[in-house]
Amino acid sequence: MPLELAARSGLIEPSATMAMGAEAKRLKSLGLEILDFSLGEPDFDTPANVLEAAIKALSSGKTHYTHPAGIAELRQAVADHYTRHHGVTTDMSQVVISNGAKHSIHNALMAVCGPGDEVIIPAPYWVSYADLVKLTGATPVVIATTEASGFKLSPKQFLEAVTARTRLLMINSPSNPTGVVYERSELEALADAVLQTDVGVLSDEIYEQLTYGDARPTCFATLRPGLKDRTITVSGVSKSYAMTGWRIGWTVAQAPVSKFMGDLQSQETSNPCSISQWAALEAITGPQDSVVAMRAQFARRRDHVLERITKLPGVTCTPPGGAFYAFLNVSDHFGRKLGERCVLDSTSFCMAALSSAKVALVMGSAFGAEGYARMSFAADLATIDKGFDSLERFLAS
Ligand SMILES: Cc1ncc(COP(=O)(O)O)c(C=O)c1O
Repeated sequence: MPLELAARSGLIEPSATMAMGAEAKRLKSLGLEILDFSLGEPDFDTPANVLEAAIKALSSGKTHYTHPAGIAELRQAVADHYTRHHGVTTDMSQVVISNGAKHSIHNALMAVCGPGDEVIIPAPYWVSYADLVKLTGATPVVIATTEASGFKLSPKQFLEAVTARTRLLMINSPSNPTGVVYERSELEALADAVLQTDVGVLSDEIYEQLTYGDARPTCFATLRPGLKDRTITVSGVSKSYAMTGWRIGWTVAQAPVSKFMGDLQSQETSNPCSISQWAALEAITGPQDSVVAMRAQFARRRDHVLERITKLPGVTCTPPGGAFYAFLNVSDHFGRKLGERCVLDSTSFCMAALSSAKVALVMGSAFGAEGYARMSFAADLATIDKGFDSLERFLAS
């Protein structure tokens, strides 16, 4: 008899962004030139000072188990960051270091959600949110936002979605996939609505250092007194320091929530990689010039991408204020034949773009928003230009 999978196995699907990236890589391995805008990671190298810190950690024997919640030095540095930069007095006991922000979100959801609970997720949302909620036995309650509202959840929408079972609201600003950055006043209004309820908040602020123009990141927990007691803030080094492979993320939460998350981690993974933790410590406490340089590059690319989108037939985009994604409205092309394929939805649009234009995008449906395709501009300007040239020909076909 083959081993039967648990019922839980039916709850999740493989990450669509990873799946598109893998397909693009497969085509590349066949010798095809694929212009890959599917992946959510900076195309820059991890900064040299971070690499040196990792080498030093290796050669000085920092290669053993650490405290399950992370080394004290890194937890303290994260706490200091929130105390100094965001003005929210934070103790090291509130910080848990995990194997990437994705793992932080998983642990946070495990800490506060379970069967029968509901979690409000505004769409478009980052691909993993709904599946991570389902793994806890809770139910994701997806609330659609529109381009007209700047893809932002309003306090009214939030309050209407709250039931006696609602445990959490998940917010993400700057957002993946839209790049939308909520104004501080908009988050304050949302915070006031949250405070009318018993609902907690998971605020995913992983792109906090990547904002452009007038857009400014806001740490949700700081907005109103009392909010920090019911907010779990998530962030990490993956995006800001080009450290996706090092797998270091963190949460800041009330001490009892953090204590549980640390205990959970001690049973799940023991601790995040010791060497990566020392590297992350250097990333956040060392010189910050690499972040400044990356942000400047992303800002240049963002402007260029927006300019090129204006010339793409039948495509519009809400300008991203942060992260490194443009969320293209491609719905005008539905019902058309593009290349060899009849395009009916965002999946067939992206498959047609991949097979005919050799451009890899991710379908909006993966983010809970049909009608769109996400383009990551974590690619150099020459590749971006080639991609747009090819898309222009493809859409005019
Ligand atoms: C919004 C958002 N949150 C969390 C993560 C996970 O980050 P990490 O690579 O640190 O697990 C990502 C990665 O794409 C993301 O886009």
